[in-house]
Amino acid sequence: MYKIKQRFGSTALITGASSGIGKAYAEALAAEGVNLILVARRESVLNDIADDLKARHRVNIQVIAQDLIAHDAAEIVYEKATSDVDILINNAGYGSYGRFEDIDIQSETDMVDLNCRQVISLTHRFLPNMKQNKRGAIICLSSVVGTMPTPYMSTYSATKAFNRYFAESLSGELRTQGISVQAVCPGDTHSDFRSSASFDKKMPISQRTPEDVVRSSLRTLGRRSTVTDGIINKIATKQPRFIPTRLLIAINEKIWRPKGA
Ligand SMILES: NC(=O)c1ccc[n+]([C@@H]2O[C@H](COP(=O)([O-])OP(=O)(O)OC[C@H]3O[C@@H](n4cnc5c(N)ncnc54)[C@H](OP(=O)(O)O)[C@@H]3O)[C@@H](O)[C@H]2O)c1
Repeated sequence: MYKIKQRFGSTALITGASSGIGKAYAEALAAEGVNLILVARRESVLNDIADDLKARHRVNIQVIAQDLIAHDAAEIVYEKATSDVDILINNAGYGSYGRFEDIDIQSETDMVDLNCRQVISLTHRFLPNMKQNKRGAIICLSSVVGTMPTPYMSTYSATKAFNRYFAESLSGELRTQGISVQAVCPGDTHSDFRSSASFDKKMPISQRTPEDVVRSSLRTLGRRSTVTDGIINKIATKQPRFIPTRLLIAINEKIWRPKGA
């Protein structure tokens, strides 16, 4: 049992709740009796998830169908939310894979909007209520590739470094105010992420599940400002401490080089 509700509050807003890690957060928090606001673009998928969770866990769930790349998305979500948010999970995001010059630039700049701009906009919108209540939690999805330079995922890797440093820095600002902030750094995790990122490379380590990632996150929420799920992923995130950057970039270039490049 995580005892999330008693410590952080009764309502969580999860972005990207229609699949993968976001859906797993919804399941875990509903099981804890936390009411949910689920945000993503696919309304019918969110409604199906909400109906299922309401039936099994007797929690209140609001669905907000919203494209978070839209410039005013944070404002729209804030206005539509019918209850105060105690736990904000900035999870929605996507990646891209390949030579930077070959990737569609609109998709890259949209990724920065979704993975970075929207994270700070939503956090800025929902933080004042947490500060007023002197409790709450903010979770930002980073990645193992956000802890080191990752050729062929250059933009994505940079957005995830942004998520990590934003969450860790904010955790320092809010530490004494009852609000916990956590950067979550999953490695390769089974979800729709690979297909949306056109990422077809087989990695040398086995995939984790969204449930593994969420368990690691919620178990340590309030105690750790950064959490990496899985022992191999934990070791991977330590590499920048021991391997000179130039060498690490060269190693990662070989590991991540696309087939035939
Ligand atoms: N899977 C991995 O290997 C892995 C590793 C490290 C970090 N992560 C991070 O974990 C987070 C969740 O990824 P996942 O693995 O669960 O991927 P996923 O299964 O593809 O889920 C992505 C979620 O984001 C939502 N989303 C995408 N674009 C959106 C937009 N424009 N507006 C609103 N919502 C949008 C999707 O919903 P709709 O399509 O319905 O909008 C979906 O619910 C991401 O931030 C990712 O960077 C994943």
